[in-house]
Amino acid sequence: MKALVYEKAHDLDAFAIHQVEEPEPLPRPADVVVDVHAIGINPGETFFRRTQSAPPGHRILLGFEFAGVVVNAGEAVRYLKVGDRVFGTGDVTRDGAWAERVAVDHRVVAKLPDRLSFTDAASLPIGALTAWEALFRDVDELPGHVKRVLIIGGAGGVGSLATQLLKIKTDAFVIATASRPESKAWCQTMGADLVVDHSGDVEAQLRAANIAHVDMVLSTAKTAENIGWISPVLRPFGHLSSVDGAGGLDASALMAKAYSLHMEMVFSRLMHAYAPEAHSAILGAVSSYVGDGRLHPIATTKLVGLTPETMREAHAMVESGHMVGKAVITIR
Ligand SMILES: NC(=O)c1ccc[n+]([C@@H]2O[C@H](COP(=O)([O-])OP(=O)(O)OC[C@H]3O[C@@H](n4cnc5c(N)ncnc54)[C@H](OP(=O)(O)O)[C@@H]3O)[C@@H](O)[C@H]2O)c1
Repeated sequence: MKALVYEKAHDLDAFAIHQVEEPEPLPRPADVVVDVHAIGINPGETFFRRTQSAPPGHRILLGFEFAGVVVNAGEAVRYLKVGDRVFGTGDVTRDGAWAERVAVDHRVVAKLPDRLSFTDAASLPIGALTAWEALFRDVDELPGHVKRVLIIGGAGGVGSLATQLLKIKTDAFVIATASRPESKAWCQTMGADLVVDHSGDVEAQLRAANIAHVDMVLSTAKTAENIGWISPVLRPFGHLSSVDGAGGLDASALMAKAYSLHMEMVFSRLMHAYAPEAHSAILGAVSSYVGDGRLHPIATTKLVGLTPETMREAHAMVESGHMVGKAVITIR
């Protein structure tokens, strides 16, 4: 089968992801093998490409989210069968989905509604799972007394789905941040009640809207840099949830207001065998919201063909740091 791989970590201007012929993936007992029809491209993958090299003589095959058709199912697979249209995440510890086929644990995969195309479906898994866990943790609901949520980076892959999930699952007032006309407009399309500009004085913009504080901040970008204005707008005992790793964050900023820091890592369940089937359940809920017309896919850039050229174009867009929605590559 065809796959896109690289050997050494490299920058965009020396883009070295290339096409190879690979053996078909070998499924484990709890795996499905999926004929990949479309893949979403994520900042995490561009981070791997820039920073992680394969051991000598090996290659790295990335690909954290896909949509396609089940073509093989191991003996321990319970919820899925050959022929099912599915979407899901890859597994960061294994070969990913930038290939014609991927083998993945069926507990992080769910069926698609009939009306959803593979291309649109591939825009959802990582953003939806990350947003869900960052907001609702492992209890599937917001922390107590959270009525106002501020999403930093509202137009990105995670932010777009965070806004939609909050509007579907809760009665929270959702404030999204965006710095450009197109990202601001997109946040409104996603359902934000208010959009503020993260390149300006957020505290003043909230005050102008008669908002003294928020109960929760979901930060998808530059958490450590933005902490100077996050702390003033977050109420005491509030919640800061970070999906960007919050590298360099000075945790003493949290103490004065006694607020909680939540960290999200979408592969955590699978890596630690901690009820990974929760992902299938969350994706199942997402699938039903799409089926009901309540949740909208976020594929704004649709590229065609599993080639180094389409992959480079998607990486360039994602690495700009100013994505609106998601870049998806349709493979077949
Ligand atoms: N922990 C996990 O499991 C997990 C899972 C998925 C993603 N992630 C990480 O989460 C982050 C977000 O992912 P994503 O897919 O949503 O990224 P994305 O789509 O690339 O996010 C782009 C958005 O970030 C906004 N942004 C850029 N600079 C900003 C700043 N200084 N302050 C506030 N917002 C800013 C942009 O808004 P404007 O263009 O309007 O400025 C843009 O809409 C990435 O770091 C990614 O690696 C983590």
